[in-house]
This record gives sequence, structure tokens and C-alpha cells, in this order.
Amino acid sequence: MIVAIDGPAASGKGTLVKKLAEYYNLEALDTGSLYRAVALSMVISGDELQDHNKALQHSLNFDFRLTQSPDLRTAEIGVAASKIALFQDVRKALFSFQRKFATNPPAGKSGTILDGRDIATVVCPEADYKIFVTAQIEIRAKRRLKELIERNQPAIYASVLNELRDRDVRDSTRKSAPLQQSIDAFTLDTTHLTADQAFKTAQKYIASEPINRQRI
Ligand code: CDP
Repeated sequence: MIVAIDGPAASGKGTLVKKLAEYYNLEALDTGSLYRAVALSMVISGDELQDHNKALQHSLNFDFRLTQSPDLRTAEIGVAASKIALFQDVRKALFSFQRKFATNPPAGKSGTILDGRDIATVVCPEADYKIFVTAQIEIRAKRRLKELIERNQPAIYASVLNELRDRDVRDSTRKSAPLQQSIDAFTLDTTHLTADQAFKTAQKYIASEPINRQRI
């Protein structure tokens, strides 16, 4: 089975994916880490993020090991990722990797689960289950602030909030594969939910939906 999880930054996708992947025995891919890895690769090389051709080269020579870099999850790389994610051919270069991952679960796994911005709409429109995870922006900013502080990255609430706001606008208004809810996705608003409650709600949705339903 394929599970598609989309939603804005810091909405709780990552935690939910971990729990679902474990429960349903799925191989997980955080597709944001691919965009972050391309952005990190550009920053390491000293290339301008606006340089379209350079961004394309970095995405074509994509090094998966960079997704494990400790520098991947900084606020700076989050912003940089959303800038290079605007380029359609960068998205195209990363698309093939995501398709292969989604449709080839390793032996012993029951399927795959991918999270990002355009999984249900572009990468896996045929996914068996589609969940759009969201939460009020102030709650998302608090969660992201906690995450950054836990990683020993200095951050203040007001800048995290502004950064998320800017990123939401950039991600949802871009021409290519903007962040938008697929019409057949289940909405999971985690504003007032604990991680466990969010997981149980997702589980109920999955249990209530027949697998391989015909998609519109
Ligand atoms: O973890 P967080 O929610 O902050 O962001 P992320 O999932 O790591 O994604 C970083 C950026 O990559 C996003 O703001 C998007 O601009 C871009 N992205 C995308 O365009 N499409 C995806 N499928 C995943 C991420």
C-alpha cells in the first residue's frame, strides 16, 4: 500500500509518519529531506540559491547521503529548500527518485509512506490513503521552536513564526506543484491533538477506507 501525507511546515507530519510506518510496516520517505539536501549541497558549494542551472545540476547529481547530514534540519536550510523547490526542473529531477521509492518497497515491507507537499496531488495520485496534516500557525511555530532548541539551534518564537508564514506563502503560491489539499484527502488538524491522538485519528481513517479505491 502507498500512504501519502501532505501539509505545511511543522504540522506534525514527521511524527505521524514514524508512527504509521512502524504500525503498518511501511518504508518511509521524508521528501522534504530531498529538497533540503539539494539546498544544503548548494550552500556547501557556495552557489546562489537563485541560480536555476546550478540548482538543477545539484538535483541531478543528488547525493542521498546528504539527507543524513546533521546540518539538514536547520531553519536556514528549511528556507533555502523552499526556494529551490520553486524550480520546476528541480522538482522533476527529484520526482523520479520519489516515484521509484513509492512503488518499490523493500522485501518484507507492506508498502511505503511518503510525506511532503505534493505527494497526494503529484507524486502519488494513486495512493491508497491520503492525509492532509495541518495545524494553526502559532502552534506549528511553538512546535518548531521546541524542535530547534532541542537540537541546540538558537531560535526565537517571533522569527520562527515569520519564517513559517513566509514559507507557507511560498509553498502554496508557487506555480509548480503548490502545497494544496488533494480533494480526496482526509484532513487531520493536529492543533489540539497530542502525537498519539493524531496517530489514532489517522489509524481510524485508514481502517474506514477500502484499499485501492478507484481514484478520481
Ligand atoms: O520539515 P518542514 O515541514 O519544515 O519542511 P520540509 O518537509 O523539510 O520541506 C522543506 C521545504 O521543501 C518545504 O518548505 C517545501 O518548499 C519543499 N518541499 C516541497 O516543495 N515538496 C515536497 N514534497 C517536500 C518539501
